[in-house]
Amino acid sequence: MPSTAIINASQILTLAGPARPRVGWEMRELGIIDKGALLIENGRVAKVGPTEEISNSFTKETQIIDAGGRLILPGFVDAHTHLVFAGNRLDEYEQRLSGTSYQEIAAAGGGIKKTVALTRAATEEELLTQAKKHSNWFLSSGTTTIEAKSGYGLSLESELKILKVIKRVNDETPLKCVPTFLGAHAFPPEFADDHHGYVRLIIEEILPAVTEQGLAEFCDAFCEKGYFTVEQCFEIMNRAHALGLGLRLHADQLSSSGGANLAAEMGAVTADHLEHTDDYGIAALRAARVQPVLLPGSVYALGLSKYPDAKRMVDESLAVVLATDFNPGSSPTTSMPMILSLACTQMQLLPAEAVVAATINAAYSLKRGHEIGSLEPGKAADFVIFDCEDYREIPYYFGKPSVWKTFVAGEYCFSTS
Ligand code: NIG
Ligand code: FE
Repeated sequence: MPSTAIINASQILTLAGPARPRVGWEMRELGIIDKGALLIENGRVAKVGPTEEISNSFTKETQIIDAGGRLILPGFVDAHTHLVFAGNRLDEYEQRLSGTSYQEIAAAGGGIKKTVALTRAATEEELLTQAKKHSNWFLSSGTTTIEAKSGYGLSLESELKILKVIKRVNDETPLKCVPTFLGAHAFPPEFADDHHGYVRLIIEEILPAVTEQGLAEFCDAFCEKGYFTVEQCFEIMNRAHALGLGLRLHADQLSSSGGANLAAEMGAVTADHLEHTDDYGIAALRAARVQPVLLPGSVYALGLSKYPDAKRMVDESLAVVLATDFNPGSSPTTSMPMILSLACTQMQLLPAEAVVAATINAAYSLKRGHEIGSLEPGKAADFVIFDCEDYREIPYYFGKPSVWKTFVAGEYCFSTS
């Protein structure tokens, strides 16, 4: 059988462990193999171990790639992105630097609404071109799977257009995409004075169309003052659950809005953001085993200082996940290495905890823990070779080290040389 081997890695972070999200002290266990090698067959990990040992399995046909003392880890799994949108929000970035807040810009008709107008006006092909450009950014930063949300269409036609683009990125590029429907991201202008009407539209028309066409695996909603109330999110999540979708929720991002409790009550897979979640919210997430998805990039990029209490969540045995929240407003980054650095420096996670949160725990939050997130025999050979020797260099030398090669299903899809 034709096989590929990667040999002479300084370290391979296998993330081998129990077949479930990692909690507490388990988040410090990376399953490191020094001077490691990976054997790949049919796009899957066949063996992983010390180079000396794995070399015994080589045949004449084995194609050998020398990692040259670099670091190998599973491809990052980015469990919260808003991949598909038109244009950018460079003007608002400057406004914020001059002191106008994210909420003030939104109240004046900018923010999500601005991107919705641009995204509605764009064709599927135009959106696909931009999304493919950004997909390359993910791959070049070492990310091999993303969760991708709709939410800049806010009408039946435009939401379906975005979800089709997500499907095409998944089908036409090496980046794997897990689709989420986020119709409840903001109220569209035509429903500015009829919030009830928009919630009905989501429940009665958009959600059924999305699920009938198999275009989403999860449903998300933005539970926040000025956006969707706890009651509106409850109704939407209830319907989505009945239609077979898993649940995620933007919770307590800008204020303590009851989001964490709602996510727990609804049995959501994740509650995302959680900057303003109180003790009761954390206890509720723990009791319901909801995974917190922490997004320090949005705190950083909005120039705020209140990061979620990640350390506390780890201490409370929550299966913490880290993600970029890539979007044109609050977090314009595709870089998981940057997120790891923020998680360590601003939220005091240890580098090992950050790696677990960005790989195996993220994979479980997307119901893909059996397939990706660790380098164990049988799993997809999705991995990254970083141009450094020790995994702690990733958050430590922020802005550097860079990815040397990214592999999906055993094939490299990004390479610097
Ligand atoms: O996760 N919070 C809602 N959605 C995004 C922001 C989207 C935007 O500003 O365009 C977020 O931060
Ligand atoms: Fe988001």
